[in-house]
Amino acid sequence: MNAEVQNIIDRLADGDDLSINEWIKIIGEDYDTTYLFDRADGIRRKYYGTDVYIRGLIEISNYCKNNCLYCGIRRDNESVERYRLSDEEILECASSGYELGFRTFVLQGGEDGAFSTKRVESIVSSIKEKYSDCAVTLSLGEREYEDYKMWFDAGADRYLLRHETANREHYYILHPKEMSYENRKRCLYDLKKIGFQVGCGFMVGSPFQEVECLAEDMMFIREFKPDMIGIGPFISHAATPFSDCENGTLDLTLKMLALLRLTCQKALIPATTALGTIHPAGREMGLKVGANVVMPNLSPVGVREKYSLYDNKICTNEEAAECIRCLERRVEGAGYKIVVSKGDSKV
Ligand code: 5AD
Ligand code: FES
Repeated sequence: MNAEVQNIIDRLADGDDLSINEWIKIIGEDYDTTYLFDRADGIRRKYYGTDVYIRGLIEISNYCKNNCLYCGIRRDNESVERYRLSDEEILECASSGYELGFRTFVLQGGEDGAFSTKRVESIVSSIKEKYSDCAVTLSLGEREYEDYKMWFDAGADRYLLRHETANREHYYILHPKEMSYENRKRCLYDLKKIGFQVGCGFMVGSPFQEVECLAEDMMFIREFKPDMIGIGPFISHAATPFSDCENGTLDLTLKMLALLRLTCQKALIPATTALGTIHPAGREMGLKVGANVVMPNLSPVGVREKYSLYDNKICTNEEAAECIRCLERRVEGAGYKIVVSKGDSKV
């Protein structure tokens, strides 16, 4: 590692902004990442100690009106068997999750018209009524301000909406033209204005991504100041137009995780399932370079396989209880500890 690289890492750790060219250098240059990873873990421990928060992910529907080119549940994929959970099933997932120690439930799904604003509002109210000590996170895509506001007023605490890429041209390579880069950003700013703890994020190594795109992602994130940041490697799905594209790499994903920890020091950053999919110890490695959240799946095992955004997704056959035991071992093996807590944003 040369002095210039070390200087950039030190400045990030001190809270400095970087120029686009500095971001390009620190992301694109090949160097020994030991120092970067150590600094990232140091910052993580400064704010969070060894705590790892768990979020119970409930995949409520794989119907989606969108046609994102990278995603396995895109509208045009006719080979996927579609499902949606009933309200009762969702509440059962939450109930079993609560028993297992989860204090955050993440309702995630494709953009499915069957989950009307009212219906989601009612599910959120039911969960919050029953588990007042829990946080509800929604991850249901792009909606109008009024919809988000109703969900927030019903008690939803957080919202995850990855921006996917901060580079406009790249956005339209990954998405059909009927989608809009401006609308996605509008949603993120609306969510923030309403008062949600907001998460954005991107895929590492998505098709046609260049170092400049990642640099712009970092600059956008720095400006947006999200409470949560979800990143993971792109993994190709056989039934999408990007089936032949290379997956994102472990090394670059770890590097981006560490840089995120340095630039958004208090953010909640998951070691994602996608990271655990490209390498058996991916999530443990993610935790060691700055990640502080894991999101085990609480969806009924019968639907797990159907919520396949990418190929070879892990944990599709394991019950939630098995995953949490497995993760406890993994997290402890990496030197951290899962805590029973809502784990609100400190940003
Ligand atoms: N590989 C990795 N991540 C993907 N996502 C969607 N498709 C893929 C894929 N093929 C991510 C997107 C989305 C999140 C729910 O999953 O970033 O926002
Ligand atoms: Fe699901 Fe290990 S986390 S089996």
